[in-house]
Amino acid sequence: MSVWSGFYKLNLEERVRAVAEWAGLEPEEAEVLRQGLSLAQAERMIENVVGTFALPLGVAVHFLINGRDHLIPMAIEEPSVVAAASHAAKLVREGGGFVAESTEPVMIGQVQVLHIADVEHAALEVLKAQEEILALADAQHPTIVRLGGGARGLEVRKLTDTPVGPMLVVHLLYDTRDAMGANAVNSVCEAVAPLIERLTGGRVVLRILSNLADRRLARARCAVPASALGGNEVVRGIVEAWALAAVDPYRAATHNKGIMNGIDAVAIATGNDWRAIEAGAHAYAAKGGSYGPLTRWEQDADGNLIGSIELPLAVGIVGGATRAHPTAKVALKILKVNSARELAEIMAAVGLAQNLAALRALATEGIQRGHMRLHARQVAIAAGAKGELIDRVAERMVAEGSIRVDRAREILNALTSALKA
Ligand code: MEV
Repeated sequence: MSVWSGFYKLNLEERVRAVAEWAGLEPEEAEVLRQGLSLAQAERMIENVVGTFALPLGVAVHFLINGRDHLIPMAIEEPSVVAAASHAAKLVREGGGFVAESTEPVMIGQVQVLHIADVEHAALEVLKAQEEILALADAQHPTIVRLGGGARGLEVRKLTDTPVGPMLVVHLLYDTRDAMGANAVNSVCEAVAPLIERLTGGRVVLRILSNLADRRLARARCAVPASALGGNEVVRGIVEAWALAAVDPYRAATHNKGIMNGIDAVAIATGNDWRAIEAGAHAYAAKGGSYGPLTRWEQDADGNLIGSIELPLAVGIVGGATRAHPTAKVALKILKVNSARELAEIMAAVGLAQNLAALRALATEGIQRGHMRLHARQVAIAAGAKGELIDRVAERMVAEGSIRVDRAREILNALTSALKA
């Protein structure tokens, strides 16, 4: 059983206190949850600041990942996402939780070389000088090297058929440890470019990381007993729903969008670059040449639903907004992660949970009913309902098919008068 059952019934202040207690937040950190980013802090982050743009920060519950309980901070404007993730995590708990893993945090930096007389020869020269190039790369960021990161290898790709003639692309593999690492990788690419020009006799144009971070993958798996899902029919429905994404890019795009609902929300909450994550995820989904789903669902011999996800997750817990944004810092504390890899593993589990929730709803009652229920609860709260009355008012509105604040007030008045009588 998860101790977080009923969390959604607490009021906002009670939720903040429960999360603060669980995560060991200092009073000022709990205050950050209430206040968010100040204008002065915003001004130090980007240019031409005229304000801040706030999003709701929710916490998904019930997540058991690699045997540990986690609360998942999620920043998102879309209703239902946090509730759906929590619901799916509860189902997965019944099968023992998520098992997640990740590769070393190795990024790819690209150095593009053009105007080469002999591409084959130039490629060999670069490979022969590999050690010198990697040593130069390592000299750029001694701190990353001291922390166990740094240059890991080099690959040379010959692209002969391009609109501007043949070119070489040197891939520098660089372990950025707990940083997302864009700045580190970009500066390493810039630093080695003159040496690569000398070796190839060509001219370097691009020196930039690749967001297709397929050396920095995160994976998660889960097994959900059919009984937790409501039976064999539901398991089969989920596998059937997934199968369309497996063969049809029109469905795969929506399927993956649902996965990214969860992953982006954690990325935003933790101050990570969600555009980079999005770019990597969708490029990875198309890697085989046709665009497909980032997850896989099947039924095992015992009837359990087995799910898995794999995607590039270039995320950090140091550097950039992860430390500059006060809420991101608190979100990382709530997550209780000690490394970027751990964060990536949690995000993979959240993506898998989000996908399970969507497929379960789509394969059964449809997506709208759950949305309606949640919307009705919000409207009931807006009308002044508290405690038990929230669900009673919401249920009545859903049954009537009319979800409006004025109707919520009428129902609430009728119920409170009946209780008093
Ligand atoms: C909505 O934000 C996400 C879904 O469309 C995902 C899906 O269809 O799998 C519900």
